[in-house]
Amino acid sequence: MNKVISFISRKGGTGKTTSAINLATMLHSLGHRVVLIETDTNYTLSTLRQMELYEARANNNALFKILGSDDQKIISDIETFKQQQVYDYIIVDSAGKTTNKDIKMLCLHSDLVIIPTSLTQNDLLVTYQTVEDLKPAFKHSKDLKIIILPNRIHSLTKHKTISKALDELQAQITEHMVPSKNAFANFSTILPEKEFLSIAKEIVSLVEAE
Ligand SMILES: Nc1ncnc2c1ncn2[C@@H]1O[C@H](COP(=O)(O)OP(=O)(O)OP(=O)(O)O)[C@@H](O)[C@H]1O
Ligand SMILES: [Mg+2]
Repeated sequence: MNKVISFISRKGGTGKTTSAINLATMLHSLGHRVVLIETDTNYTLSTLRQMELYEARANNNALFKILGSDDQKIISDIETFKQQQVYDYIIVDSAGKTTNKDIKMLCLHSDLVIIPTSLTQNDLLVTYQTVEDLKPAFKHSKDLKIIILPNRIHSLTKHKTISKALDELQAQITEHMVPSKNAFANFSTILPEKEFLSIAKEIVSLVEAE
């Protein structure tokens, strides 16, 4: 209970925001108490939520909260929510580089760090660097888990191919992967994507495992 799941990557555009919102909508639909905090000061998700609410003429009451924060404020926000004990999952969509002190701190305050990556050379190289940046955190936080989430994977790509591509990383990889999907470009902050069901379940079992 009260677990912090952070999406972190050294590089932009790897799928942190898309995966964070898809995980949040799915966990909420499964009955978990969720809050999503975005530290990207563009506040894309908060804005999209407002637009969706307006279009649907819906009200906020039955939905999970999406809150804005920033790299400096995020740790105190997490601590406040942890003390309140009203959420099962505090999901953080980060935007800063893993070379920044604040992002390293975020890693230390997380139960699970998810690093999304595609299989392109460029993304793989930066993911390798991301894992290296975050490795020292294990010394300070022995219960920390870091996992790679393969993103934008063609539906015919086999898991063996993915593991081979990610072999060099020496990090745990999710069993389920995020397919490449046009519709993800127009994700909802309210309705879950069915493709995320197996991923969300895997993440829950991972973060809840002792
Ligand atoms: N599985 C996917 N299938 C198709 N498009 C995707 C997928 N995942 C992400 N995208 C697209 O890739 C782009 C970057 O994704 P996203 O904004 O989630 O990355 P990010 O890591 O949050 O980037 P930033 O660091 O800039 O915040 C977006 O246009 C998004 O729609
Ligand atoms: Mg983002």
